[in-house]
Amino acid sequence: MNILMVCLGNICRSPLAEGILQAKAEALHLPWNVDSAGTGAYHVGELPDPRSQAVARKYGLDISDQRARQFKAADLDHFDLIFAMDRSNYQNILRLAKTEEQRQKVKLILEFTGSGESNVPDPYWDDNGFEHVYQLLDTACDRILDMVSEEVS
Ligand code: 4NP
Repeated sequence: MNILMVCLGNICRSPLAEGILQAKAEALHLPWNVDSAGTGAYHVGELPDPRSQAVARKYGLDISDQRARQFKAADLDHFDLIFAMDRSNYQNILRLAKTEEQRQKVKLILEFTGSGESNVPDPYWDDNGFEHVYQLLDTACDRILDMVSEEVS
């Protein structure tokens, strides 16, 4: 299973989503490859935002080996599932999709996982937003594991 998490900058939300889901999959001995990317190129090559690294560390995750990269059309072929953090990311990914098969791979992470909210709020301008983002993504990643495990069993 190849799973891609996508936000705008690939420094705040999607690196957390990548780290959380990869750790959960590894704990269950699932051979999943989880990656992340941003629809924008502003932060390509950068480490995750220090505030994302800090909240990850608080929950025992080290995401400091990640580097930001931009989403590319080929990701729609390589990955089995692509989770957008918000509607804007979702629309930007779909714009690059050429086939129905590609479109079917793209999900809005919170809608797919049954949360009351539909967008993971962008915490870039809000130092206090990172804990909430972590909790939303932690729950969403549990749902992803449940749903994918059900589908393949
Ligand atoms: P992310 O957050 O999409 O969760 O990585 C952002 C990071 C940077 C910017 C916006 C959002 N920015 O405008 O530079």
